[in-house]
Amino acid sequence: MKRRTFLQTSTMASLIPLISQKSFSLPIGSPGKPISIASGNGLQATAKAMEIILKGGDALDGVIAGVNIVEDDPNDNSVGYGGLPNEDGVVELDSSVMHGPTHRGGAVASLQNIKNPSKVARFVMERTDHVLLVGEGALKFAKMHGFKEENLLTEESRKEWVKWKELLSKKDDYLPPHAIDDLDIGANLTEAMKTYGTINCLGLDLAGNISGVTTTSGLSYKIPGRVGDSPIIGAGLYVDNEIGAAGSTGRGEANLLDCSSFLIVESMRRGMSPTNACLVACERVATHTKEKRLLTKEGRPTFNVSFYAINKKGEYGSAAIYEGVKFAVNDGKESRLETAVGYFKIRSNED
Ligand code: GLY
Repeated sequence: MKRRTFLQTSTMASLIPLISQKSFSLPIGSPGKPISIASGNGLQATAKAMEIILKGGDALDGVIAGVNIVEDDPNDNSVGYGGLPNEDGVVELDSSVMHGPTHRGGAVASLQNIKNPSKVARFVMERTDHVLLVGEGALKFAKMHGFKEENLLTEESRKEWVKWKELLSKKDDYLPPHAIDDLDIGANLTEAMKTYGTINCLGLDLAGNISGVTTTSGLSYKIPGRVGDSPIIGAGLYVDNEIGAAGSTGRGEANLLDCSSFLIVESMRRGMSPTNACLVACERVATHTKEKRLLTKEGRPTFNVSFYAINKKGEYGSAAIYEGVKFAVNDGKESRLETAVGYFKIRSNED
């Protein structure tokens, strides 16, 4: 890794000397110290994953049980039940799983009415000769395996969707709530924020095996059928049992164009620390973002993408295009939040 690569940003200039540049010899077959990390919404997920890992469980069982808590949680509107819907008000979920020791993976995309897409992704991995099922086919397959259909749109998410629709344009026929005598309705519409929330959870178990999962309702108010990075092996998730694992949250379109999770694992294979490997992915996304509509006036991405990684030794790290992102870590005790390294400072005008 050329040090100067990251010295382009003032943030990195101060952080790089703190980050280990040492390469490590791969401890193939030897157990590392157990670890589970996740995106910032994964405190409970990492706690659950570690509970299973410390009982001698497989990391895949741990991380899936962990994210199921968030998929079931109506208050997390970025994942599973209660996720923000597509532009038609329908919740569509994406997920992928990867099991290190067998190097198998499974995924589902645009899955409707099933609140645990990560469990369905596991069934795809274990009970088909395929890796990815989408849309109606994925739903049919889930029902075949006993998953129950339910409406995933909570009242809160429905109200958020209606708000988005009403604030979208002055030219359509929807009006936001207003006083009956307000004669200037819609004069100051401010578009509601779109979000890309997701959970990624990675684990290294007592046997030294690594697995991971990513699950999401994807971009809020997306075009129906839009699929992000989460269910794409190599983009939203990648595991190589001899090296480590990586996953992502944030703008899936940017990550899809760089296969960042694969890039991170390959960077760790060449000896990089998990944090530096995540920074490589940030740099790749930043330099590959060329469309003006996606760039600030300083030429930086208008969006964030965050990466999470662990290696075979149980070392972990996270980096995001912009600073301020938290991620969850459990190394055998209580889950805690740590701060990801930012490739850019948020207040770029101070740089
Ligand atoms: N990273 C989640 C998505 O873009 O769908």
